Amino acid sequence: MFKVNDNYLKLPGSYLFSTIAKKVNAFTAANPDKKIIRLGIGDVTQPLSESVISSLHIAVDEMADAKTFRGYAPDLGYEFLRNAIAENDYKMRGCEIYPDEIFVSDGAKCDSGNIQEIFAADTRIAVCDPVYPVYVDSNVMAGRCGDYDESKGTWSNVIYMPCTAENNYAPELPKETPDVIYLCFPNNPTGSAITKDELQRWVDYANKNKALIIYDAAYEAYISEGDVPHSVYECEGARTCAIELHSFSKNAGFTGVRLGYTVVPKDLKCGDVSLNSLWARRHSTKYNGAPYIVQRAGEAVYSEKGKKEIKELVAYYMKNASYILNGLKEAGYTVSGGVNAPYIWLKTPDNMTSWEFFDYLLEKANVVGTPGSGFGPSGEGYFRLTAFGNYENTVEAVDRIKRL
Ligand code: MLT
Repeated sequence: MFKVNDNYLKLPGSYLFSTIAKKVNAFTAANPDKKIIRLGIGDVTQPLSESVISSLHIAVDEMADAKTFRGYAPDLGYEFLRNAIAENDYKMRGCEIYPDEIFVSDGAKCDSGNIQEIFAADTRIAVCDPVYPVYVDSNVMAGRCGDYDESKGTWSNVIYMPCTAENNYAPELPKETPDVIYLCFPNNPTGSAITKDELQRWVDYANKNKALIIYDAAYEAYISEGDVPHSVYECEGARTCAIELHSFSKNAGFTGVRLGYTVVPKDLKCGDVSLNSLWARRHSTKYNGAPYIVQRAGEAVYSEKGKKEIKELVAYYMKNASYILNGLKEAGYTVSGGVNAPYIWLKTPDNMTSWEFFDYLLEKANVVGTPGSGFGPSGEGYFRLTAFGNYENTVEAVDRIKRL
């Protein structure tokens, strides 16, 4: 008789953004005349840049010719892309990361969910609270998180590091020592950032306690302040304690194209075991690589023209972020984020719960956001708006909220 992985049965409800989509679909079906503005999921709205499109076209034509056709990609990804990443994202920032430490994938979401597979079943994880739900849910599926306490919204075997207004949405070092620490900066969902000195403390802590940091740098392109690190490898000692995740979704608008990468330095060891080798083993066994045409598109992001276009794209979304931040401030909301990240984190008014505010905003302003409690218990009473909409819709959404 077959049996299911009953860890899945422990997961409460459906994936956060699926729940939101269902609610919005139901509202739209009941109110077909209403113009809904979606500032919920962090999905981009602007088209791919010229250099990306032109690379895609060229690569498609190559696939149409037997002389230039490509089949399976190399295990770690094509060298042309890994070299461009190593050069631009690391060497130019003074970080020591080599192409054979870079694993190209179809996005940071998969990697952030899959990376837990190379750790022991009894690994104790620590997460920020609120947190991107994939880190926790993927560990729940693997049976690592213990039991769910519905009243608290927490798992018995997870160490939560509250990120609140009091600590400026930056976690404090945990009192109990975790084995694996998930950090995401600039942060999803709060939009906060940490300085290089603050990140260095985490790297020192991890090295001292033989813990490992999984550093999600998906939003690094949005950093506007000088002392905020773009990579964990800017910190001394990170090669022996950190894995880094990257996405092309948020900087280059690849949410529908799919491309990301994970860095596992060769100095990262558990006793004699190299994590780079373990991840390589996993990658080659379970994955056949991002498509050739997409990897060529990724390479184009690092061309001189591509880099300029990315800056323009990021500036476009950050103009939205400023409009939301300033508009909501004027309207009397308590808001943060939106300076080094495309997310704005606001306190719900009149002590509304996050979901109450979600319903209120959907019904009264026809604007969709993301309830903070969906990211963890410390997100209760907060709400996230994304800057990834188009400018006109963003302005209209903020103006509607101001009129409430
Ligand atoms: C979000 O809205 O938190 C992100 O878009 C989700 C993701 O990148 O998977």
